Amino acid sequence: MLPGDSADNSTGPDGNQRPELAPIAALRPDFIWGVSTSSFQIEGATREDGRGPSVWDTRCQKGEIANHDTGDIACDHYHRYPEDIALMQRLGIQAYRFSVAWPRLLPQGRGTPNEPGLAFYDRLIDAILAAGIEPWLCLYHWDMPQALDDLGGWANRDSVAWFADYAALVADRYGDRVKRFATFNEASIFTLFRYGFDGVAGDIAGLDLLHRAIHHVNLAHGAAVDAVRERVPGSLIGAIHNYQTCRPSTPADAQAADACDAYWNRAFPDPQCLASYPSRLRAAMEPHMQAGDLARIQRPVDWFGLNHYGPTFVKTVPGSRLGFATGEKWTGIPLTPMGWPIVPDAFRDTLLTIAKNYDLPIYVLENGLGGYDKPDETGAVIDNDRIAYLRAYIGAMNDAASAGADIRGYFIWSLLDNFEWDSGYDVRFGLTYIDYPSQRRIPKASFHWYGNLIKAARRK
Ligand code: FCB
Repeated sequence: MLPGDSADNSTGPDGNQRPELAPIAALRPDFIWGVSTSSFQIEGATREDGRGPSVWDTRCQKGEIANHDTGDIACDHYHRYPEDIALMQRLGIQAYRFSVAWPRLLPQGRGTPNEPGLAFYDRLIDAILAAGIEPWLCLYHWDMPQALDDLGGWANRDSVAWFADYAALVADRYGDRVKRFATFNEASIFTLFRYGFDGVAGDIAGLDLLHRAIHHVNLAHGAAVDAVRERVPGSLIGAIHNYQTCRPSTPADAQAADACDAYWNRAFPDPQCLASYPSRLRAAMEPHMQAGDLARIQRPVDWFGLNHYGPTFVKTVPGSRLGFATGEKWTGIPLTPMGWPIVPDAFRDTLLTIAKNYDLPIYVLENGLGGYDKPDETGAVIDNDRIAYLRAYIGAMNDAASAGADIRGYFIWSLLDNFEWDSGYDVRFGLTYIDYPSQRRIPKASFHWYGNLIKAARRK
């Protein structure tokens, strides 16, 4: 047994009564339980087997990450994936969401494919399937090849064709074994944080880049849906959206919260599912649109992927490019250790809003708590705060299901502690603790809790 393991189900690894499981009675009998990860956050091996640099390697090299952390080793998943798949098996998950690193397959973003990179995902997918787990493949989790960013990245309309070709390569290579495909992870986050939040007011060219990038990512989504659908019979395709209720920090920030809602929540699902941009964005998008674009974007999808953590609080920022930014949270709201608001009711409401607006089966593809976990003197990691968070959020999801939302699966972010973007390795979201110097994996109390929940759910 590993530290933190407990053979018996009635007590937790610390000997205390095991925290009760979450209510799940309203969930479908074929509900899918899973975990999610992404390539740059776990793989490491950034210079191995011909991989090219991504925009995140560049940011790391420039020292823009906390503690000057880099993705060079991360969780060393590139070499240790069998051990990680064994963890998934112990957890009892039915599906595993991961992403493919575009610069591993196409080091320059386009051109000749890199066979060793392609072969890595062959090995990974085969091992996931051999473990009885369904692979859910996301094409893009933020690691754009640097060579393409140098050509203007998403702000260049050619990015639509680059992405479609990459999607075709992935579909041709893995479509015999993978049927679940996601195009983009959180398009609003990587576009807003790259082109939106940092700018100043009056910078028309800067704002223009944001609107171009939004439109091109939407077109790239549509093109990738077609490329995968044509090549993979029986494929089930969707996109993964970060969708949170936008709450004004003060009553005077109501306009700012509405503007944020248009960019953060609706700029991608509205055109992709409803063939229209939110009314607030229409005039800004107009100059970048060509005849037929909305039809190219709204290609039929099979499901809606939701990543949700807590509401976004928004304030008016006069002199800024967008006129708004994330703002102070209302007092009295409980926060996770990294300061994200804990509001399960907002999760329930978001699920109901999405069900009503988009009328698609919903999969929750990320939810979880970021903290500063540490092993105790016995070597166990007792993350009761994460268990309480997950229990409350799964309960809220159950409420949304009983109120009629068609929710078909729930994936925790994340299987492992990993490279948490600008925060580097400081913040930990894993069900499994990573001791980075030794790369030892220690399942946390939440790992056992989630495993027991899955067991109970599958007995239902
Ligand atoms: C989401 C990202 C994911 C992870 C979690 C905490 O926005 O998709 O990669 O960083 O937040």
